[in-house]
Amino acid sequence: MDLDSKASDRPLDPRCLLTPEAGNSEGKTFQDTVGFPVAVVLPAAGCGERMGLSTPKQFCTFLNRPLISYTIETFERISWIRTIVVVVAKESYDQMLQVIHSFHHTKVKVVEGGTTRHRSIFNGLQAFHESTEGPSLIRPKVVIIHDAVRPFVEEDFLLKITLAAKEQGASGAIRPLVSTVIATTSEGYLDHSLERAKYRASEMPQGFLYDIIYQAYQRCSEFDFEFGTECLHLALQYSGTNAKLIEGPPTLWKVTYKRDLAAAESVIKEALSLSACLISGTIAETVALASHLQKNLAANSMTVDVYQSATGNNELLSKTRNFIQISASEESLLEISEMVKVLEEKNHALLYPVVIVWVHLYMSEESSRRQKADELSSFMDLATKAKQGNVLLYGIHVVHSKVPELWEKCAERLSQITESLIRDRNPAFTGQLLQA
Ligand code: CTP
Ligand code: MG
Repeated sequence: MDLDSKASDRPLDPRCLLTPEAGNSEGKTFQDTVGFPVAVVLPAAGCGERMGLSTPKQFCTFLNRPLISYTIETFERISWIRTIVVVVAKESYDQMLQVIHSFHHTKVKVVEGGTTRHRSIFNGLQAFHESTEGPSLIRPKVVIIHDAVRPFVEEDFLLKITLAAKEQGASGAIRPLVSTVIATTSEGYLDHSLERAKYRASEMPQGFLYDIIYQAYQRCSEFDFEFGTECLHLALQYSGTNAKLIEGPPTLWKVTYKRDLAAAESVIKEALSLSACLISGTIAETVALASHLQKNLAANSMTVDVYQSATGNNELLSKTRNFIQISASEESLLEISEMVKVLEEKNHALLYPVVIVWVHLYMSEESSRRQKADELSSFMDLATKAKQGNVLLYGIHVVHSKVPELWEKCAERLSQITESLIRDRNPAFTGQLLQA
């Protein structure tokens, strides 16, 4: 996927990345529809040669978290998926256990991979069989196979794949071809080209009745293990099962090149920036500024809920990952400090960085000058501490103007800075006091 990819490469409702309910438009859970055990195998034992980095791509980090953890989270949020087997290279085993520990993953079992993707997948499937290492995992009716480096798969699509696999024995995601496929001669000339409309790209996830795919892997040849790339083909050739193909959303793209990591990060940032909570305070000037800010941010597709105070309202802290606190009081840093403490206690920034924008409104230039120097160091200290807990704290100074046009411009600048701080989530600017 290119960095300048169109909106269609993103989830239709990016909130589905962050809240379990949002992906399911009817508000009901799919738990009842899937009355049989479902497990997932995530092959993650590749070395990511095309990425060109020394770290395998599944362990590359953005927003303080490795890619593999985003993919695991996608499946972990789905209540009807019981077990996630992650297959990693021997040398990454401990690193994977560390990821599970750091991000509190609970449904995951780690298995050692093989030299090819097919070998890794087979190792993953074997985790459901009795072994010398002890009791196996509960054998699923349907197993979903999904590349660990495709973090954006939505619950309703997984449901389609799962139900089709239960019905047909095998199912897989397909997408239209982006380019025409051609065959070349050994001398590097055009041999022939395929009619694009007739062919599809095979993507992930794929679903299988467990017994069918396990049997296919047991029967397949060394050549298949070494050079094969298509699980659906194995199911057909060795278990006689013809897969149901389902057109998938564009979000199924696979992180392959360096630019894909940046694209994945931008999808997450976009999802994180859809909503904010604005704490307005109670004095007329801060309330008016809050309403201005709310209007401007809403015009840029950010839903902003306004509250007068966050104190004693811990509920609101779990509603979003962006907070804007407007205050005219000298004590307002204490409120921010309290908010950071509660966010940490609730572990709210464990998976995604939380942003707090502290807007300090001064009633005059003079009071601004007087307080600024004192504030700077205590704000920086607080921000440094907050950052350790994945809370990004930024400050903006605003001096009130009685001239309506100037005040209007100031509020406009404040909105732009606030929005870009929330959208960029740049850790380098935390602890800075900006001037609107
Ligand atoms: N994979 C695996 N075991 C292997 C090779 C690949 O589990 N021996 C996994 C990868 O970790 C990845 C998925 O299969 O999650 C899809 O493979 P691919 O995108 O080709 O990843 P890599 O093989 O790591 O990348 P590259 O081909 O660029 O080296
Ligand atoms: Mg590969």
